[in-house]
Amino acid sequence: MGDLLDKFQPLIDQREALLSTGITDPFNLVMERVVSPTVAVCNGRETILLGTYNYMGMTFDPDVIAAGKQALDEFGSGTTGSRVLNGTYRGHRDCEDALKHFYAMDHAMVFSTGYQANLGIISTIAGKNDYIILDIDSHASIYDGCALGNANIVPFRHNDVEALEKRLKRIPEGAGKLVILEGVYSMLGDIAPLKEMVAVSKAAGAMVLVDEAHSMGFIGENGRGVAEAEGVIDDVDFIIGTFSKSVGTVGGFCVSNHPKFEILRLVCRPYVFTASLPPSVVATAATSIRKLMDGADKRAHLWENSKKLHAGLKALGFALGTDTPQSAIIAVIMPNLEQGAAMWEALLNEGLYVNLARPPATPANMTLLRCSLCAEHSSDQVDQILAMFTAAGRATNCIR
Ligand SMILES: Cc1ncc(COP(=O)(O)O)c(C=O)c1O
Repeated sequence: MGDLLDKFQPLIDQREALLSTGITDPFNLVMERVVSPTVAVCNGRETILLGTYNYMGMTFDPDVIAAGKQALDEFGSGTTGSRVLNGTYRGHRDCEDALKHFYAMDHAMVFSTGYQANLGIISTIAGKNDYIILDIDSHASIYDGCALGNANIVPFRHNDVEALEKRLKRIPEGAGKLVILEGVYSMLGDIAPLKEMVAVSKAAGAMVLVDEAHSMGFIGENGRGVAEAEGVIDDVDFIIGTFSKSVGTVGGFCVSNHPKFEILRLVCRPYVFTASLPPSVVATAATSIRKLMDGADKRAHLWENSKKLHAGLKALGFALGTDTPQSAIIAVIMPNLEQGAAMWEALLNEGLYVNLARPPATPANMTLLRCSLCAEHSSDQVDQILAMFTAAGRATNCIR
């Protein structure tokens, strides 16, 4: 009998080789205590968090916490049911209202995660004989949404408007077309040229879905994302987002102005065949989303942090994912996994946590140290972070 897990042997070997060097496992860290949105205790030591996607620092907001506690007291710990049966409480509707208000859109559908939002919306709206045209660097949840559905999949080169246009022109006349883009690409922290991409998609008669997971709350005048910043939000048919980043809890959603949108609640399997979010979670999400609408000062401070860290790392001689700061993610490119893991560990020993990212999550086989800034990082913390990068970079020979 063949062992079905044998196919993972190369990965097991690679992992064992890395850990045999005595390095701390970068994919097994425990946060023993969380002190604030920017500080946790790891391995018994206070550590600055620079890899949490907690962009707006909402996880410890007193109003958000109070709303969660109240919902826990009033509605219990969970719904034990699907949104279409016993799993829609007043709080789920309230959360969808908060999203509609935040995006100024007619419809909002809350899913149990952002992963499920992509899985559900993509697999449901693009069916047999339709075409999905997507950026090759799309998130795993987008690819998995494509895999769950029956549409034909046509990838194009990352952020290449001409390539998108060429692919669109080759699609048979009359076929349904869905272009899928992201506002911010989370591995390198670069943004999509949405103005041009939405224009060519619309000219070809395609519908457009934009995943704004990493831009919600931060980018755009009202924090609606890159589509807002680029002035094309009215031409986007579906926006996908998550509560697990700027909103500071867990959950996912799709917002839209499409007049037939509500029917999706009955036909979207990852919405129907799973339990809805606990009342405390939707209460924290709704409160957080409403507060993000007034987040202009936080947005401005987060931009300052992003610019300062980008300039500082560049001056130290690190290779970065973007020439200029484009989002709250700054990716430091490492020469290989071994050096990346060594630098990751050296930073942890200095008291700094960043995300180590490796293939297949990363484009072009890159090993990255991904830094995600928070609006609650003080300017002083950014100085400390740069000092830690200097010490760790020198200790591991990543910089001189
Ligand atoms: C672009 C993108 N879309 C969707 C998701 C999924 O979000 P969630 O954590 O809510 O499942 C992520 C999360 O990493 C993401 O980066």
